[in-house]
Amino acid sequence: MKNLILGIETSCDETAAALVDAGGRIHANQIFSQLSAHQPHGGVVPEIAARAHSDRIGAVIKAAFDEAGATPKNISAIAATGGPGLIGGVLVGTVAAKAMATALNLPYYAVNHLEGHALTARLTHGVKFPFLLLLVSGGHSQILAVHGVGNYTLYGTTLDDAAGEAFDKSAKVLGLPMPGGANLEHLAQGGDAQKFDLPRPMRKKPGCDLSFSGLKTALVKAWEDGGKDAANAPHLAAALQEAIKDCLVDRCRNAMARFRAEVADTADFVVAGGVAANQVIRTSLKDLADAEGFGFCAPPLELCTDNAVMIAWVAAEYMGAGLPPTPLDFAPRPRWALAS
Ligand code: KG4
Ligand code: ZN
Repeated sequence: MKNLILGIETSCDETAAALVDAGGRIHANQIFSQLSAHQPHGGVVPEIAARAHSDRIGAVIKAAFDEAGATPKNISAIAATGGPGLIGGVLVGTVAAKAMATALNLPYYAVNHLEGHALTARLTHGVKFPFLLLLVSGGHSQILAVHGVGNYTLYGTTLDDAAGEAFDKSAKVLGLPMPGGANLEHLAQGGDAQKFDLPRPMRKKPGCDLSFSGLKTALVKAWEDGGKDAANAPHLAAALQEAIKDCLVDRCRNAMARFRAEVADTADFVVAGGVAANQVIRTSLKDLADAEGFGFCAPPLELCTDNAVMIAWVAAEYMGAGLPPTPLDFAPRPRWALAS
């Protein structure tokens, strides 16, 4: 076994390492979740995250080698998330990758975390360029045309909160523990979305931009007006999920029209990022793609949320496209847009 790419992901609250080959075969996928360290605080605490990454990074990388039955002799490149994300965590992964690349004399790739989410569908489903991408995670909500490796056009982005943030903040208001989005989806299954009428920000407006902060504010108001009655929680959860779904469908419909006009008549529509784990949202977006003549692709759930496979895979794509590695003086980027 040779030519494996080591991927490292440390931009939020997962310390992850993976080994992937150039053909996209996953040899190891280790994820250490810091959930229990952040749970008492109701959200990710950057200082705690950075320390936990620093504590765990060595063990997680070793576990990836053990899982693959490989040693550092079997790798040909090292990739780490270089941003965007919580800077303390990104620094830990970056330093680990640079140190290994230096010691082993291997190329180093600083990977944009968003590009990791964006290109996962090529690894899992062999999706061809160009494609339309909805990226919905805890920190980002963007709609992009993906023309090729490192080549994106931004169609729309959130004007305020990300979709996952709206899920997480609303879950917290309703008293749900972390992980907020997944717990809210579970709660919503027992609710009636029609019992509360929440707004659909940006719907029917031209363009593809999103907005979620007004939605969260409306949920807080409805929750407080109802005396914070626990009986309302499932209905509010269902109403929020429905509203976010409607907003995403509306914006993606506009994006599909623009993509058809500017890029190609037909292509795949890829949904990536943690919010793509939501079954209601996933199903509605698939229905939209079917209706609009786009192929639909959402990576399997375990590769939708943060992982290091996607980071190693971006390096594989860069190497495949003949793009050069990253200089070792790369400075981690708390903000790093895929396209403007
Ligand atoms: O991509 P990801 O793992 O991390 C970021 O890069 O942000 O996405 C995490 C986000 C969180 O906001 C989480 O609440 C949301 O994805 N999420 C969900 C679900 N599972 C995760 N949102 C709605 N429904 C879910 N089932
Ligand atoms: Zn992510």
